[in-house]
Amino acid sequence: MIARLQYGTTAKVFHWLIVGLLVVQYLIGWLMPDIHRGQEPGAGMTAHISLGISILILIVLRFIWRLTHPVSLESTLQPWQRLSSALVHWTLYVLVLATTLSGWLFASFRGWTVSFFDLFPLPMLAADNAAAGKAIDGWHQVAEWTLLVFVGLHVLAALVHIFVYRDRVMQRMLPG
Ligand code: HEM
Ligand code: HEM
Repeated sequence: MIARLQYGTTAKVFHWLIVGLLVVQYLIGWLMPDIHRGQEPGAGMTAHISLGISILILIVLRFIWRLTHPVSLESTLQPWQRLSSALVHWTLYVLVLATTLSGWLFASFRGWTVSFFDLFPLPMLAADNAAAGKAIDGWHQVAEWTLLVFVGLHVLAALVHIFVYRDRVMQRMLPG
């Protein structure tokens, strides 16, 4: 498959849509009330789970799109920059997957019935299992914080390209 030189509109829409949804998702995650034993999910948790599963579907679609529409790296990059940017980009895909799946698994082990934005029931990944829930307690937080660290590195790299190297890397992900 021949790699394109630029990201197409679909890749850019996927990128910025997921960025926007992740911002909302972190805000809901931190603002929603803490959960207690035996508690059923309230409006905040229902929104968090519904949005999280939407992000999971979008990242899988985006990944498939990326594999079928390869884009070559910016030609001016040094070998270490090519390697580090590829590593960070693939890690971001993996971490979004890990964050969504760990959250979904945790919610499933609680035995919750959750509807997608109060529209239709969502399938759960496993049956009610308190011991398994305890075993994976904390995985979601680890995944969500690791994702935040890699997003921070990624945004820092984008800022360095804009203000220090002053090259066209940021331009590649902007409209037009
Ligand atoms: C990339 C997407 C997601 C992000 C960024 C995210 C982020 C967060 C955040 C920030 C919290 C608060 C935890 C804390 O106080 O540190 C949280 C909690 C939670 N999230 Fe998510 N979440 C995502 C996807 C999901 C999904 C898909 C589900 C379920 C289907 C889910 C289920 C939960 C549950 C059950 C909690 C409360 C228990 C816990 O704190 O581990 N999350 N999430
Ligand atoms: C303000 C925040 C962000 C900025 C300024 C930004 C900027 C960019 C830029 C300029 C590129 C293209 C790099 C290149 O030349 O190849 C890119 C690619 C990418 N970004 Fe972001 N990004 C941001 C947030 C995020 C977030 C939150 C994620 C988390 C999922 C993310 C995931 C990715 C991935 C996976 C790629 C590689 C695309 C591919 O080749 O498949 N970005 N980003």
